[in-house]
Amino acid sequence: MFAVLKLAFISVAALATVASADAILDNLAREVSRVESIREIKDVQRSFAHLAQFGRFHDAATLFTTDATFIWGNASVTGRSAIENFLNAHTGEMNGRKSSSLNTLVIENPVVSLSVNGQSAKARWNGLRFAGDSKGGSWIEGGIYENQYVREDTGWRIASLHYYALYEGTYEDGWKNVGGRGIPVIPYHFTPEGSGLPIPTPEGDAPETNATLRDLEVRIESLNDEDEVRNLMHAHGYYIDRRMWTDVIDLHTTKTKVTITGQGTYNGLDGVRNALERMGPEGLTRGVNNDHPIFDMLVEVSPDGQRAIARGIEIGMRGDTNNRTASWEFNVFRNNFVKETGVWKVKAVETTPLIVADYYKGWSNGVINTPTGYLPPWVNVGSFREASFPPSNGTSNATVVDLERKLRRSAAYDGTENQSHAYGHVIDDIDCARMGALFASRGHKSSPFAGFFITPQRITDACFASYGTNRSTIRSSISFHWRPQPVILVSHDGRSATLRARLLQPSTSVSKAGSFNSAMYHDQVVLENGRWRLWSVTIDEFYWQSSSWEAGWANPTPRNASQPDPEPAGWTKKFPPDVTIAEVGEREAGFRGGAGKFVEWPEIQRMWFGYRNLVSGRVPSGERLGFWEGCVPCKVRPDWALEANGWEEPEAGPVGNRTLRMGR
Ligand SMILES: *[C@@H]1O[C@H](CO)[C@@H](O)[C@H](O)[C@H]1NC(C)=O
Ligand SMILES: *[C@@H]1O[C@H](CO)[C@@H](O)[C@H](O)[C@H]1NC(C)=O
Ligand SMILES: *[C@@H]1O[C@H](CO)[C@@H](O)[C@H](O)[C@H]1NC(C)=O
Ligand SMILES: *[C@@H]1O[C@H](CO)[C@@H](O)[C@H](O)[C@H]1NC(C)=O
Ligand SMILES: *[C@@H]1O[C@H](CO)[C@@H](O)[C@H](O)[C@H]1NC(C)=O
Ligand SMILES: *[C@@H]1O[C@H](CO)[C@@H](O)[C@H](O)[C@H]1NC(C)=O
Ligand SMILES: *[C@@H]1O[C@H](CO)[C@@H](O)[C@H](O)[C@H]1NC(C)=O
Ligand SMILES: *[C@@H]1O[C@H](CO)[C@@H](O)[C@H](O)[C@H]1NC(C)=O
Ligand SMILES: *[C@@H]1O[C@H](CO)[C@@H](O)[C@H](O)[C@H]1NC(C)=O
Repeated sequence: MFAVLKLAFISVAALATVASADAILDNLAREVSRVESIREIKDVQRSFAHLAQFGRFHDAATLFTTDATFIWGNASVTGRSAIENFLNAHTGEMNGRKSSSLNTLVIENPVVSLSVNGQSAKARWNGLRFAGDSKGGSWIEGGIYENQYVREDTGWRIASLHYYALYEGTYEDGWKNVGGRGIPVIPYHFTPEGSGLPIPTPEGDAPETNATLRDLEVRIESLNDEDEVRNLMHAHGYYIDRRMWTDVIDLHTTKTKVTITGQGTYNGLDGVRNALERMGPEGLTRGVNNDHPIFDMLVEVSPDGQRAIARGIEIGMRGDTNNRTASWEFNVFRNNFVKETGVWKVKAVETTPLIVADYYKGWSNGVINTPTGYLPPWVNVGSFREASFPPSNGTSNATVVDLERKLRRSAAYDGTENQSHAYGHVIDDIDCARMGALFASRGHKSSPFAGFFITPQRITDACFASYGTNRSTIRSSISFHWRPQPVILVSHDGRSATLRARLLQPSTSVSKAGSFNSAMYHDQVVLENGRWRLWSVTIDEFYWQSSSWEAGWANPTPRNASQPDPEPAGWTKKFPPDVTIAEVGEREAGFRGGAGKFVEWPEIQRMWFGYRNLVSGRVPSGERLGFWEGCVPCKVRPDWALEANGWEEPEAGPVGNRTLRMGR
């Protein structure tokens, strides 16, 4: 039946290992299913967060195997009903079931490892829970998950959830280390060598598939579509943070609408602008924080690949230092997307505010909205993606080689995300050796307030120079490096990618309540000898900082502008960078050690984007905005660029244009 396959296009590697066209199709089907598995595993964990937010613990328990183990801090239970009972008891009246109660769990920064046989998996995540009962009770808890998953008949399930409780406290007191003790390193299920292996090579012959080439093409395109919808929504979020209203509007289709549950619906592009201007005028001015980080987004693409839904958790962390006000917003978004001439656009935004609270009073005593009690519908994820497609009746004109390439691009999305979070986890532990080992042999990294170091060894040594070599493995304090909301632009050949991710930094210690800071990462990642490795990492920090838990982000002490700018980090005198922050010039000008005047919150730091508007191609420009294509130090070191080293520079703009030019 597949004699029509264009054998001339089949790769040499494929020919060497398989005997027939049927076997080629079987192999491709197995690869598609493995990439889908990575997504299904993430979705099952994210679904847990979505259900828990509304106290749906009975449904949440069905995401587990019947005999699953569930460890939460020092408590341990087995089986679905015990898990449900534990969650009910643990959350009490802070369960999210009543509209006045809050139970927002965010579970992010996954490093997912599929087993060689594809039947089980492990994943490490960071978690935070924001809880309150609006009657004076509040709770915040944070930690690390090391979970296990198995593939069952109808979908992936959690076989073991192990949450290591690391910090906790009430809103009023803030959080500190659990038990007032130092925090040990939480055992890793992965090594730096492994974290870049997109999906392990399977063993043995692929099982026979009933899928046609067209069936597989449809599933692969659906994975590619999901990547684009994720990027679109995450980019949308970054524009909202910076009040780039024109860029937000560019991402919408003309017949669009914004609904804010309980408040109103705004139709058309003018309506979108009116809805946005409720947050203030276009452009961020001094002292204003409009961050709305996005977590745990689930994406459902319609089987015909023309529509999509994304449901996720948004936490507004807003403030204005000019009148020292600040607020929390716990929202659920459920947005619709449509593909128009090959380009995904936002069709409808539906934001449902749960609790909105005054930062200085907290979400138990300071609720400032009237919650509606509306539950945004769930999305249809959780079973095998394969099952959601009707049989495709047509034939495919695609070559296996091209389908493999498209599939590689989606595997690259996950591989890049994996490597990004592997970095976040090891740097939380200031494990300099493991951190350096995540880089490509010619990879480079910026050390904050210092400069760029090239090669894994020098990156490791710079980390030691900065943090010391004799660090205790029991930490009295930790700054976490959450890297949620990635925009990942993968090259046409699927061998390199550009990643922009938020740095959301909760801290904890034995003695002082932790708080949040915010910064931005600009990375590039490459496939080197079959493994994803970090090619370029730049941290732009900080955009805003909390002066303490009590004072929050709206109460900074502005620095005295007549004082001299702070020096680059002192350790660089002993261990100088290969390129200093100052040598990079304009791109790092406002950051400490940079070439220009130092800018510190509540001044607005210039925000850089590595991509043009993903729909309109608009270039971010303006006094406090910038566009920078390619690696950050590449203008002073062109020999560090991807293209100078045998990799493609991913398209830094609209997907539609990439499609046209590259024939996607
Ligand atoms: C278990 O952890 C909770 C929350 O951290 C704490 O209140 C409790 O005392 C602990 N129980 C035991 C037996 O350690
Ligand atoms: C992520 O890293 C883990 C840890 O070694 C590895 O086993 C897994 O294959 C990687 N997954 C992806 C999707 O890159
Ligand atoms: C393939 O189709 C045959 C005949 O309809 C069926 O018996 C078999 O279970 C199918 N295999 C798979 C993997 O779906
Ligand atoms: C503080 O300023 C913001 C505008 O940034 C305004 O919306 C808010 O009403 C002001 N609050 C007070 C208490 O003045
Ligand atoms: C293929 O044909 C079947 C039976 O006629 C139909 O139910 C199904 O929707 C078709 N699939 C597509 C993708 O058109
Ligand atoms: C295959 O190519 C033919 C002729 O160019 C075209 O009519 C048909 O729509 C194509 N089919 C698919 C599935 O792309
Ligand atoms: C390392 O730290 C430990 C405990 O802080 C200390 O006892 C030891 O002397 C230190 N070693 C070196 C080589 O500095
Ligand atoms: C700011 O710094 C200048 C120069 O050091 C100093 O003369 C001045 O008194 C400072 N102003 C304040 C308000 O601290
Ligand atoms: C896409 O590329 C075409 C041709 O190069 C150009 O005319 C058009 O403006 C581009 N569109 C966007 C959205 O960048």
